[in-house]
Order: sequence, then structure tokens, then C-alpha cells
Amino acid sequence: MVKSTGYKIVKTAVFISGTGSNLKSLIKFSKTNLSPISIDLIVSNNPKAKGLKYGKIFKIRKKIFNFEKKNQSESKILATFKRYDIKMVLLAGFMKILSKKFITKFNGKILNIHPSLLPKYKGLNTHQRVLDNKEKYSGCTVHFVNSKLDSGKIILQKKIKISKTETKNSLAKKILVQEHKLYPKAILKVFNL
Ligand code: GAR
Repeated sequence: MVKSTGYKIVKTAVFISGTGSNLKSLIKFSKTNLSPISIDLIVSNNPKAKGLKYGKIFKIRKKIFNFEKKNQSESKILATFKRYDIKMVLLAGFMKILSKKFITKFNGKILNIHPSLLPKYKGLNTHQRVLDNKEKYSGCTVHFVNSKLDSGKIILQKKIKISKTETKNSLAKKILVQEHKLYPKAILKVFNL
């Protein structure tokens, strides 16, 4: 598809492992006139991921790969990308680590969202660690993916205040609301829009 403004829409795959609320917000964004991307493929390591339902709802092709066999799966993913002309990857609650080889092949075209103010709190169990350390602020970050976990160049961040009564769950919810706004903004920024 070519937009009336003249640029070509970039076909994108979103990788998920769970609920897929970011996937849903990205699909909605991709359908707006502002969007430089279309979402043409949903990839998951988890056949039970709730977010897979958005494939059916929005008629987007979905593929499940067994990441216990990472090399084999990544080769299949790259073949799928070729077949469907996928040029960009958005990780959205994807809980597996991609290989260096895969990341290098797609260098600069893989984005991730992480629920902390990176470089603080890389990895898992972010919200609990933030609360344990009595932080006053947390937030979310969209960054390019490089071969080191949650360490690629930061595109955008949103900071939020932690309340006195905050729990792991309330913090996660509060940050998710911001994630849904931040990811589309970061995509626009990557495309200089
Ligand atoms: C989001 O908070 C995302 O930032 C986080 O998982 C959640 C997925 O929610 N990602 C990571 O922790 C990656 N290390 P969603 O499935 O509803 O989009």
C-alpha cells in the first residue's frame, strides 16, 4: 500500500507472549492515517498467548514458533518474513531472547517496549524490583533491540510517579496505559514523522 503522502507502508510483525494489550494498541494505531506501518503478522512463542485472539479479530496472520528450538524457529521466521515482505519487528511483551544472528540480520529494524526507565531494571520482574528499591518514579521505554538484553538505543521514555500505596499490579496497570501511547509515538519518531 502507498499512502497518499507518497511513502510506502512498512509491513511489520509484532511478537507477543501473553495478553497482547500493546499488540491491540499497535493494530489500532496502524489503522490510522498517521501510521507508516501495517501489521501483517503476529508471532508468538506461546500457543496459549491471549493476544493471539487479535489475529482473528483483526484478520492478521499469526504464527507460533517453538523457541526451545531457537535456531530452527528463527530460520523459519526469516523465511516467513521473506514470504510476506516483513521489514520491521515490534516486540510487545515478547518474553524470549532473540539470537545475535537474528538481530544482526534485522539490525535497526527491531523495536522493543520495556516497563521500566531503562537503563534501570532490565530483565524480568521489573515492577517488584522497583517497589523493593522504594523508587519514587518508574515508567516505560521504547528502544532499538541490539544483542544485549534491554540495552539498545533508547527512542522514547515516559516517566510516572509511584504512589505510596502502589502494588506490583497497580504499577503494571498504570505503566501499561502509558505503554499504549508511547509505542506509537516512538514508531512515528523512528520514521521522522
Ligand atoms: C508490557 O508491560 C511490556 O512492557 C512487558 O510485558 C508487558 C506485556 O503486556 N514486556 C517486558 O517485560 C519485556 N521484557 P501486553 O502483553 O499486554 O502488551
